[in-house]
Amino acid sequence: MANPSLLILAGDGIGPEVMAEVKKIIGWFGAKRDIAFDVSEDLVGGCAYDKHGTPLADETMAKAQEVDAVLLGAVGGPKYDKLDFSVKPERGLLRLRKEMDLYANLRPAQCFDALADFSSLKKDVVAGLDIMIVRELTSGVYFGEPRGIFTEGNERVGINTQRYTESEIARVARSAFELAKRRDNKVCSMEKANVMESGVLWREVVQEVHDKEYPDVELSHMYADAGAMQLTRWPKQFDVIVTDNLFGDLLSDLAAMLTGSLGMLPSASLGAPMANGRPKALYEPVHGSAPDIAGQGKANPIACILSFAMALRYSFDLGDEATRVEKAVEKVLADGLRTADLMGPEGGKPVSTSEMGDAVVKALDTSL
Ligand code: NAD
Ligand code: IPM
Ligand code: MN
Repeated sequence: MANPSLLILAGDGIGPEVMAEVKKIIGWFGAKRDIAFDVSEDLVGGCAYDKHGTPLADETMAKAQEVDAVLLGAVGGPKYDKLDFSVKPERGLLRLRKEMDLYANLRPAQCFDALADFSSLKKDVVAGLDIMIVRELTSGVYFGEPRGIFTEGNERVGINTQRYTESEIARVARSAFELAKRRDNKVCSMEKANVMESGVLWREVVQEVHDKEYPDVELSHMYADAGAMQLTRWPKQFDVIVTDNLFGDLLSDLAAMLTGSLGMLPSASLGAPMANGRPKALYEPVHGSAPDIAGQGKANPIACILSFAMALRYSFDLGDEATRVEKAVEKVLADGLRTADLMGPEGGKPVSTSEMGDAVVKALDTSL
C-alpha cells in the first residue's frame, strides 16, 4: 500500500523554523517506527507571493486537495502588510480553508504540569486543564458578503458581514458533540445572541442538533464576552467549546495563555470525510509568523510538533503514536527545557528552536 501523503507548506517567518523540527520527527517515525510518509513541499503566504505573485498558486491548491493531510507553518509578515487584500499572505491560508471546506477547527488547550507555574494565571486555575475549542472556520464574518471598503457620501466605509446558514452551524455543532462524547461529554456554545441575529440562529440550531441527535451530551450556552471572562476565571468548568469563526479566533489566542504560551497551541482543521473515510485535513499551530523573533532560533516548535501529533491521530488513525509525541513533549518540559517564550522567573534550561526539536526527537525513543 502507498505511504500516506503529506503536503508541507512551511510559509513565512518562524513557519519554516518550527517546521524544520517537525521534519525531524517525521524522519524519526520513518527510521524507528517504520511509519513513512510521502512528503512534498510547496509555498504558501508571502513566499508564494514573492515567487508567483499570489499567496497560493492554483497548482498548490490542487495538491492540497489530493494529499491525505496538509501541514502548515505560518503566513504573513510586515513586508506584506501594505499589499492589496486580494494577495495578502493570509488570503492563501483562507483559500485553503475555504476550498478544502475545513469547517471544524479543533484548538485544544492543555496545560502541561511542568508549565502550570508559568501561566499568567494562578497555578490552581490552570493545572490539569484540558479543553477543546471548536471554531467554525469556513464562514461567518471572515467570508460573508458584502465586504469591502466603499465610499459613502464624502467618507469611506468598511464593511464585513456576519452570515451563517443553518447547515453551517449544524455541521460544526455535530463535530463538537462527537468530540465531547469521547471526552467529558460537555459542550458550551458561545455567540452573542443578545445582539446578533446570527447569534440567535446559532443558539437555536445548536440546541436543535443537541435535542435531536445528542440529548445525552450536557449542553450550555454562553455569550462570548462572558465566555472570555469565564475562560480566565475558571477555565476548568469547560470541556468542549463551540463557537463561530471570529469568536473562535479570539478565544483560542486567549486560551493559549492558559497553557503558558501561544507557542504551545496546535490545531486541526477538518472537513467532510474523503473516499477513504478520513476527513480532509490541514494541521497548523495557532500562532502566526512571529516577525519579532523570526530568524533568531527563538521560536517554540512545540505547537507545530503537537499539530503533527494531531495529524497522526485524526488523519492516520495513529492515536498511540500521537500520544507518544505528546508524552515526548511532556518529558522535555518536565526536564526543564525552555524556549525563550517559556522562560519565567522560575528559570529552566534555555534552548533554541532546534535544540528543543532535537530533545523531543530524543525523548520519542522512550516516551511510551
Ligand atoms: P503571532 O502569533 O505571529 O505573534 C504574537 C506573539 O507571540 C509575538 O510576540 C510572537 O513572538 C509570539 N509567538 C508566536 N508564536 C510563537 C512561537 N512559536 N514561539 C515563541 N513565541 C511565539 O501574531 P501577530 O504578531 O499578531 O501576527 C504576525 C503575522 O502572523 C501577521 O501577518 C498575522 O496575520 C500572521 N498570522 C498568521 C497565522 C497563521 O499563519 N495561521 C496566525 C496568526 C497570525
Ligand atoms: C489564525 C490566524 C488566521 C485567522 C489569519 C492568519 C488568517 O489568526 O489561524 O488564528 O484569523 O484565522
Ligand atoms: Mn488567530
